[in-house]
Amino acid sequence: MFTENQIKSFGSKTTPFYFYDLDILKKTLNEVKTNAPKEYHIHYALKANSNPVILKLIKDAGFGADCVSGNEVKRAVETGFKPNDIVFAGVGKSDEEINYALDVDIFCFNVESTAELTVINELAKVKGKKAKVALRINPNVDAHTHKYITTGLEENKFGINPYEFDTVLNLIKTLPNIELIGLHFHIGSQITSLTPFKNLCLRVNEINHWFIEKGYLLPNINVGGGLGINYHEPDNEAIPDFKSFFEVFKQFLELKPGQQLHFELGRALVANCGSLISKVLYIKNGINTNFAILDAGMTELIRPALYQAYHKIENLSNTGESNVKYDVVGPICESSDCFGKAVMLPETKRGDIIAIRSAGAYGEVMSNRYNLRDEVRTFFGE
Ligand code: LLP
Repeated sequence: MFTENQIKSFGSKTTPFYFYDLDILKKTLNEVKTNAPKEYHIHYALKANSNPVILKLIKDAGFGADCVSGNEVKRAVETGFKPNDIVFAGVGKSDEEINYALDVDIFCFNVESTAELTVINELAKVKGKKAKVALRINPNVDAHTHKYITTGLEENKFGINPYEFDTVLNLIKTLPNIELIGLHFHIGSQITSLTPFKNLCLRVNEINHWFIEKGYLLPNINVGGGLGINYHEPDNEAIPDFKSFFEVFKQFLELKPGQQLHFELGRALVANCGSLISKVLYIKNGINTNFAILDAGMTELIRPALYQAYHKIENLSNTGESNVKYDVVGPICESSDCFGKAVMLPETKRGDIIAIRSAGAYGEVMSNRYNLRDEVRTFFGE
């Protein structure tokens, strides 16, 4: 929901741009803090949005950071996240990235393979350090989300499979520069039912038990992120139900004495504070439909083209009845450059301001300059 002043200000700005409502972001962060038990550690997944203004707010609210590249670790450190609150995941960490993370003494590497363990050990040895690692486990739990953002199934490239556990523990015994401090899981993203999280808890209990039996009571359990948001009702449900989410873990996850619980939430914190604001360049009447051609395209927001993702589209210049059907498309030379097909909008004309909602997560960060487009702009409001 935008105020009249905001809409007026959009009209005088060069479009397209991302508009971030920092008030919504602050309220969302507050909800997380109110509902997460004090002893839970929440690391914000920078991959969802690493805009410095947003990051600073999240850092100031006391969250840790979850990074998937050396540059994200660097951005987190530069923003002021404490290295001891930074976790670093990814199936393909380069030597340079590992070295940087070792230099700044991050809290933990989430390690995805035996090969990576060996490399981290070698690099840590050169520096005379002991690298703290958590094993990223592939729990084979279905997240029931889009296949491109499902990560916890055996067929996915992520994590270490249970049949490798004995080998991994034997290997770790031979690696003096590795300190095993935890287990890490992440089953996917935009998960809108709590059942996959309950299933994850049950699986984590089994795996935790297996490690304890082998003599490894590991102090950290990290259950990743994945909590989805309501893309259809960004105003009625701007903030996800964090209370019920954390309740699942309180109820079903059996932590042993001394074990700490970590989360890596991305989308749920930032998606609904952002909108992509654009202007209508042309209306074109097709055979079966009308095209509303925007000055924003898949270069600014790729989610609809890549995942067939739904984003609510609103005409902010005409708040009349939505009784005309449009295919809302961008200017890029690809047919996949479409934000929504058969979208009901009020009569729409050249110059109208269009908001594509819930674009705060995986929007700006995934933008690119295909067709030599300008870098996307940003604008903040309260
Ligand atoms: N932890 C790990 C290990 C991850 O791989 C991810 C996301 C997260 C945490 C944060 O997940 P979240 O809470 O945001 O669901 N570009 C896609 C989403 C890719 C998610 C990748 N991993 C999209 O636009 O939907």
